[in-house]
Amino acid sequence: TRSPLVDPFGRTISYLRISVTDRCDFRCVYCMAENMQFLPRKELLTLEELDRIATAFVARGTRKLRLTGGEPLVRRDIMSLFRSLSRHLTSGALDELTLTTNGSLLHKYADELAGYGVRRINVSLDTLDADKFREITRRGDLSVVLAGIEAARKAGMRVKINAVALKGVNDDEIEELMLWSHGLGMDLTLIEVMPMGEIEAGRIDQYLPLSVVRGRLMDKYSLVDDPYRTGGPARYVRVKETGGLVGFITPLTHNFCESCNRVRLTCTGTLYMCLGQEDAADLRAAVRASKDDALLFRTMDEAIARKPKGHDFVIDRRHARPAVGRHMSVTGG
Ligand code: GTP
Ligand code: 5AD
Ligand code: SF4
Repeated sequence: TRSPLVDPFGRTISYLRISVTDRCDFRCVYCMAENMQFLPRKELLTLEELDRIATAFVARGTRKLRLTGGEPLVRRDIMSLFRSLSRHLTSGALDELTLTTNGSLLHKYADELAGYGVRRINVSLDTLDADKFREITRRGDLSVVLAGIEAARKAGMRVKINAVALKGVNDDEIEELMLWSHGLGMDLTLIEVMPMGEIEAGRIDQYLPLSVVRGRLMDKYSLVDDPYRTGGPARYVRVKETGGLVGFITPLTHNFCESCNRVRLTCTGTLYMCLGQEDAADLRAAVRASKDDALLFRTMDEAIARKPKGHDFVIDRRHARPAVGRHMSVTGG
């Protein structure tokens, strides 16, 4: 067996996030600009190349694979990648194969995903108001997403709802999102907006610290810290009144980099060691240079040896520029 990937700060890398496309059928106002420039199609790794890199990570101790985007389900023939990666679940090498999706195509793919061993998925949903949903996503149709969530639940997958907390947009609706999610037996994770890429809106106008949201929930509900962990950055509370969990992802108000266990691969084969830093490695060159994985493993080792200590996201009046130039949709978070 091969040695695990351990970074200079002693953190073991066991979670690979793969952005299979930077394209998306939505244009969420906190994620993308209206007229996004996407990566040229000719630069894309093939699904076979993505599989080969993912498999190399699994051989080096990755236990959790998450496909993201953009919107992962808009990539052509994406089911064949799930199908081939599911062999690592069967062999026991992988604990979890999953995705983060905007839900627009879930009604179509839910059964197939469940068949490939996907047991728990994250669906991004920031509001239950159809008009507001259209304003936030600029393209999406709430009823289609809700039907997708229903299909996923029917297929036997556990669904977690991801909501980005947006000042003046959905801050009056967090309680409703929680009650709705918990009523259907789904957990809700709240996310602080991160300054990635140029968008039309000002980050400072969008930014709502989750400490504020938590305080408001505590005025009305009993929140008990919960040890539930997924390998992701969220920290959870159990809401006594509903029995459900609320997760908080707080890169701005409470940095969690010390326990980081993940790296992310883009659809063009760039490996980013941190969401909030530019440090990167070119795994496409490594897979294309040789059929043998020796160079790929060496490139991975060199990359992990350069994993930064953490991000330095800030949102305040003195920091007008985004912390990193790329949008969230390039790395899928
Ligand atoms: P679980 O397996 O359910 O824990 O999922 P997850 O939180 O690992 O993944 P998901 O795709 O649902 O991501 C939720 C949010 O967490 C997204 O906005 C990601 O950008 C963010 N996130 C994930 N990893 C990191 C990280 O290392 N740093 C920061 N700052 N944000 C992250
Ligand atoms: N800050 C925080 N979360 C973001 N997402 C997209 N862009 C941003 C951003 N700038 C969220 C999506 C999805 C997850 C993958 O990342 O809503 O839930
Ligand atoms: Fe698409 Fe997700 Fe970005 Fe919205 S947050 S534009 S659904 S990639």
